[in-house]
Amino acid sequence: MIPVRDEKAISLMREANRRLGIMLDELTDLIVPGVSTAYLNDKAEEIIEKLGGKPNFKNYEGYPASICASVNDEVVHGIPSPKRILKDGDIISIDAGIVLDGYHSDAARTVGVGDISPECELLIKNTRAAFFAAMDAATSGGRLYDISGAVASYIEGTGKGYGIVRELTGHGIGTDMHEKPMIPNYRKRLRGPRLRAGNTLAVEPMITMGRPDIEILDDGWTIVTGDGSWAAHYENTILITDGYPEILSLGDKEIEMGR
Ligand code: MF3
Ligand code: CO
Repeated sequence: MIPVRDEKAISLMREANRRLGIMLDELTDLIVPGVSTAYLNDKAEEIIEKLGGKPNFKNYEGYPASICASVNDEVVHGIPSPKRILKDGDIISIDAGIVLDGYHSDAARTVGVGDISPECELLIKNTRAAFFAAMDAATSGGRLYDISGAVASYIEGTGKGYGIVRELTGHGIGTDMHEKPMIPNYRKRLRGPRLRAGNTLAVEPMITMGRPDIEILDDGWTIVTGDGSWAAHYENTILITDGYPEILSLGDKEIEMGR
């Protein structure tokens, strides 16, 4: 059974994720040609400090930074570096989390740097839309892998031949950033455990413009596509309710964008 959180846990997760939503809104505004990914990491730390809370990525299994900044063919877990200067036409995914009084948040956005190609624009839009399509299945009485299947159906339905990364998944989240269960973005044979109001989950489609295969770089963290195709990532922490889920990590910018 997937853990059901009590009201105290839920209010802390709401607050941690509300702050994360604000942080990502503010940080993505700073993404322009010429800035380095290390600069974005510094800014993220400043914003988290200002809002209150701690970056939960820092030192997580030895991870050396407070955000993941994954550029172009990097899918996730790109380590910020002063040498990685963003240029016009790049796409970058920013993944981050804040822990507040022991409760975690986790979310990611992919954005363009300056002017990006229509294909990149569409990849980012479709990855985000796949997350929201899956939200219709994320309700009490439904089952976990309905969420997975909904991501896959949406992506396949685009007819773009995108790859859905299989080795990395969404996850439960609460007093740890990564809890059981894993939430794949591909269809499973069974429908999985029942969802209940009070479950807290991180749902995160990772979509490539080519093959789904990934490789890990020698830094031990950065995950890139095997075929060099570019990839997008979109993630939010959600609370299962008896209706449409409460998406805890949406800032105003994301809310305005709609689903
Ligand atoms: N936020 C990532 C996820 O979505 C995990 C990042 S772990 C880190 O599950 F060590 F890279 F920070
Ligand atoms: Co996550």
